[in-house]
Amino acid sequence: MKGRRQKAKSKSRCWVLGAGCWAKTVRQHLTPKTQNLLLPFAFLLLPSQSALDPAGPQSGRIISLWWLMFYVTGAVFIIVMGFLVVALARSRRPHSGETVDAPNTRPDAGRERRMSRVVLAGIAGTVVILFVFLIHSFLTGRALDSVAAKEHLTVKVTGHQWWWEVQYDNQTAAYVLTTANEIHIPLGQPVLFKLTSTDVIHSFWVPNLHGKTDLIPGHEAVTWVRADRAGTYRGQCAEFCGHQHAHMAFTVVVEPYEKFKAWYDSQLAPASQPSTPTQSRGQQVFLSSPCVMCHTVRGTDAGARVGPELTHVASRETIAAGTLENTRGHLAGWVVDSQKIKPGNRMPPNNLEPADLQALLDYLQSLK
Ligand code: CUA
Repeated sequence: MKGRRQKAKSKSRCWVLGAGCWAKTVRQHLTPKTQNLLLPFAFLLLPSQSALDPAGPQSGRIISLWWLMFYVTGAVFIIVMGFLVVALARSRRPHSGETVDAPNTRPDAGRERRMSRVVLAGIAGTVVILFVFLIHSFLTGRALDSVAAKEHLTVKVTGHQWWWEVQYDNQTAAYVLTTANEIHIPLGQPVLFKLTSTDVIHSFWVPNLHGKTDLIPGHEAVTWVRADRAGTYRGQCAEFCGHQHAHMAFTVVVEPYEKFKAWYDSQLAPASQPSTPTQSRGQQVFLSSPCVMCHTVRGTDAGARVGPELTHVASRETIAAGTLENTRGHLAGWVVDSQKIKPGNRMPPNNLEPADLQALLDYLQSLK
C-alpha cells in the first residue's frame, strides 16, 4: 500500500518536475537497450510539457499547422525518395568488357518534352504546397491573437537569470500580487501576459498552451493565453540565457475560477506568523541573516526584490525555478549551498549552525 502510494507520488512529482525526473525514473526501471528503443516516444512520458497535447485554442491551432506540415512534408520526402530509388535501379552500369557509350549530344525530342513536363509539374507542386503553408500559417497567426478580450487577467512575467518573477496586475494596489515560478490561471479565461527581462533575453514557453514569446530587456512583449483544460503544465525558458538556462522552468496551474480565486486570496494574505518557538527562532534567523538582502516575506521587515518572493514559498510545488521538489531536504540543501545544485545562480552559500538551519527550515515550511 505504502509502495503504491509512493509510486503515485513519484509519478505526480515527475508530472511537475519534468523531463529530468522522468529520465531518472526510466533509468531506474529499464535496461539501456529498452531505453534507447523508447527514446523517440519520450514526449509521451511528459504530457504536462508537450506541444502535441494542446490544452487551449492557441496550442490547438499550432498543432493543426504542425500536423499539416508533418504529413505534407512527410509525403514529399517519401515521393522524392521513391523517385531516387527508381532512378538508381534504372541506371545501368556497363558490364565488364563493355565500352561506355559516348555522351548523347542529340537527345530525343519527345523524351526532352516529357522531362520538361515532369520538372514543371514538380515546380508547380512545390509552389502550391508553399502557398498552402503560407495561407495556413497566416491564418494560424491571426487565430493566436483571437483570444484577446476586454475582460481578462493581466500577469506580468519578468525573466531573471534563472527564475521567473510573476506579478498579477490590478487597478487596486492592494490586489496586486507578486509571486515566483508558479503561475495560476483561471480555466477558460483569457490571460494577457506582459513579458520582460532584467538581464538577458529569455523565452516564455508553455508548450501545452502556446508558442514561444521572448522576454527582452527594456521591452515589453505581450502574449495572450487561454487554457481550456484544467491541469498543471510545465513551462520552460526556450532561449539560451546562460549557465542554468536548462534549470529555468516554471509551472502553470490551470484551475476553475473558484479554485483560482481561493488561491489568489490565500497568496494575497501576508505571511503567517510563527506558531511555535522553533518557527519564531527561524524567523529571527531569517531576518538577521543575508536572506533579507534579496527576498521578501510580506508581513515582516524583509522586502527585497533581488530573489524570488517567499511569502508563501511553502505553497509551491517546486523550488529553484522548477529544479527541485519543494521538500525539507531540498530546501536545506538549497539554503546551505545552492551553488552545488545550480552553479552560477546569485544566491550565496549560508553558513548556519545546525539548530539555526533546522529552525529556519521550520519557519520556511510554515509559509504556506
Ligand atoms: Cu532563461 Cu533560458
